[in-house]
Amino acid sequence: MSDTTSPVPRVDDWTTDWDHHDPRWTNDPFPIWDELRAGCPAAHTDRYNEGVWLPTRFADITAVAHDTDAFSSGHSGVTAGGTVPRGVFPPIHLDPPDHHPMRRAMLPFYNPKRIEGWRSHVLGICDDLIDELLPRLAAGEPVDVAAEYAAHIPAATIAALLGIPTSDGDLFRRWIHGLELGDNDVDVRKQAVAEMTGYFAGVIEARRAEPGDDFVSVLVQAEVDGAPIDDATLQHILALQLVAGIDTTWGVLGASLWHLASHDDDRRTLVADPDKIPTAIEEFLRAYASVSLWRTVVAPATIGDVEVSVGDTVMMAFPAACRDPEVFDDPATVDIERQRNRHVAFGSGIHRCLGSNLARLELNVAVARWLERVPSFRLVPGHDVVWAEGAIRGPRSVMVEIV
Ligand code: HEM
Repeated sequence: MSDTTSPVPRVDDWTTDWDHHDPRWTNDPFPIWDELRAGCPAAHTDRYNEGVWLPTRFADITAVAHDTDAFSSGHSGVTAGGTVPRGVFPPIHLDPPDHHPMRRAMLPFYNPKRIEGWRSHVLGICDDLIDELLPRLAAGEPVDVAAEYAAHIPAATIAALLGIPTSDGDLFRRWIHGLELGDNDVDVRKQAVAEMTGYFAGVIEARRAEPGDDFVSVLVQAEVDGAPIDDATLQHILALQLVAGIDTTWGVLGASLWHLASHDDDRRTLVADPDKIPTAIEEFLRAYASVSLWRTVVAPATIGDVEVSVGDTVMMAFPAACRDPEVFDDPATVDIERQRNRHVAFGSGIHRCLGSNLARLELNVAVARWLERVPSFRLVPGHDVVWAEGAIRGPRSVMVEIV
């Protein structure tokens, strides 16, 4: 089941008229991508912008990601009914040469050692949530492990990194929901962006007056090309951190717990041998990759043997690349002990995820702690899983109970 609120015209031909808001894509995109991958290098739709291409093969998607001369990340994104300016959120919407200095300004904050320093904080977030959920589970009450556990961990973690109140988590998730639906409703998107940037204008002002050692304080003092970062850019950087860090991780974490609730053998294996959890997390990242993004064609180019034109948009379906049989043995099987797994859930090329260390930490800690404290659980029979609609994939509701 999807949480679709914006009905879209039904897709009859995925090759020439695909739509990532169609409920069949939302609920189970894998057969669609498999069919497209086998049949053509790039499917097309006229439903968004001035036309959008959809490559589904690993080789084509990574080639586009590496060709920043022809495929720009600037102003990328889609909107039904023509191209609408969407604002630039650094560094994800910057091309060379602007991209590198801005990314470099953020790198120290995301290095593995600094991120590792957040481990006990993340563990505390997980424990607080489980402390609330466990008595209910023990009393025989089902809980929503996507909405009541997975959703809160990335929001509370990012809030801590940014030095903003965890209690604003509901606000963050409301903005993200607005962005999810914003492909089809520009006003909803504009409202979410305006609220986010307005919120961060206040945070920036407060940190200038009283700096700490959080990400915002580091950024307000950072220099790019010898000059401080201006306020409007800072607001957009911070809004991106929030969006990039929350529903992405929530998606993979929710899917991991959904998998474990529905695959008894895998759950038992990881409970018996927690050392296997990091390898399992890499497999969940591959099989349930959550993030697709966009490029705009800025020079004549090809995807496979398909010619694309300047002004066209491309959907970068990294989750489809992660299921390509040319690269992964038996890609539809979720093998929690898979050894050869060079997935691209975090992208490829210069925009490869800045937050991958943080995401891995959150996923590992959250799954390990859940399995330690709730070792035996399953899906509640009769409850449909609800999947997020749009470019960021993941379950929004997964009802579980103790067995
Ligand atoms: C499982 C969780 C996550 C997944 C699957 C994921 C996936 C991705 C992908 C595919 C990209 C590449 C974008 C492109 O090529 O256009 C990306 C970029 C990025 N991600 Fe993540 N991400 C996750 C978590 C996070 C977290 C926790 C943060 C930070 C708080 C974060 C921050 C970023 C940023 C800032 C970029 C842009 C990097 C650049 O343009 O240089 N992500 N992510």
